[in-house]
Amino acid sequence: MEHRTMRAAVIDGHGPADTLRVDRLPVPEPGPGEVLVRVGAAGINAIDWATRAGQGVGVPSFPAVLGWDIAGTVAAAGPGAGRFAVGDPVYGMPRFPALAGAYAEYAVAPEHELAPIPAGLEPVAAAALPMVVLTAWQTLFGIGGLSAGQRVLVPGAAGGVGHIVVQLAADAGAEVIGTASARNRDFVLSLGAKEVIAHDMVRDVKDVDLAVDPMGGAEFFRLLDVVRPGGIVVTLKGEGPDHRRVAEQHKARAGFTYVQPDAAVLERAAPLLASGRLRPAVERVFPLEEAAQAHALGEQGHVRGRLVLDLS
Ligand SMILES: NC(=O)c1ccc[n+]([C@@H]2O[C@H](COP(=O)([O-])OP(=O)(O)OC[C@H]3O[C@@H](n4cnc5c(N)ncnc54)[C@H](OP(=O)(O)O)[C@@H]3O)[C@@H](O)[C@H]2O)c1
Repeated sequence: MEHRTMRAAVIDGHGPADTLRVDRLPVPEPGPGEVLVRVGAAGINAIDWATRAGQGVGVPSFPAVLGWDIAGTVAAAGPGAGRFAVGDPVYGMPRFPALAGAYAEYAVAPEHELAPIPAGLEPVAAAALPMVVLTAWQTLFGIGGLSAGQRVLVPGAAGGVGHIVVQLAADAGAEVIGTASARNRDFVLSLGAKEVIAHDMVRDVKDVDLAVDPMGGAEFFRLLDVVRPGGIVVTLKGEGPDHRRVAEQHKARAGFTYVQPDAAVLERAAPLLASGRLRPAVERVFPLEEAAQAHALGEQGHVRGRLVLDLS
């Protein structure tokens, strides 16, 4: 094992998309409670390009391998790890917000942060899911306390997080209003939204119980006008010092999701995925060698669903 090497997309420092380059690194060894995963596909999230640019999570040393979402098969188990057998298909978002090294042929992960891939899901589809399912679930059912019959506003409803929020909220019996560009209107309706409006029309929405804020800044405060008394705006962009105070002035509540690894949530989503009630959208699949092109496309901000690296 210790002499084996693997292909990985690395960065030698923070910078633009073309900072990403493919190199050969030693295959990592699983520590106690960890498994070695042969990565079949790695999902690309907004936090990946933010981290590459130096605006995301901290990178302790370079060269660094980015990426958190992995789908693959267990290749070896470390001491004390016995939850999975070699060959089992697994997926997850290990270690976040510490680095997980997903953009590589092999990654090591704590076994308790991985879940079995639901039957019928290919690695590329599975890799599109962990971070956005965990974020959506923790936002809607954790912080948001969503119940059937409530009205939910989802800005960026065609995006990675948005397209899962729409499906989970609609499946839970909520009435979903999404915002999207014209090209994504029918797509968002097909996810279960009742209504789709242009991004800049949120000010016309009223009486929402739960609004998701994927933008932060002034957008959080704009969304306070959209929620009804007692409703909540859950931001994905960090809690500002004034959020709670200004929300109280609106008789609303302020929430903040900072996504955490949670295999139990992925297991609870499995029946939805197996039955097709929850479907990942993958706009485009790139080979590892084109990780830079994938980042360049993603950071333009108009991807439908997720971009995925194929490492098979
Ligand atoms: N705090 C956390 O735990 C957490 C977890 C995950 C993500 N996030 C953050 O949440 C944000 C969304 O993540 P993501 O993965 O969904 O990103 P993404 O997939 O890159 O988002 C792309 C989407 O943004 C939409 N968009 C473009 N302009 C917009 C506007 N003015 N208003 C609203 N939507 C607009 C696009 O819609 P059209 O193409 O239809 O215009 C596109 O569908 C990112 O900032 C990410 O860092 C935070």
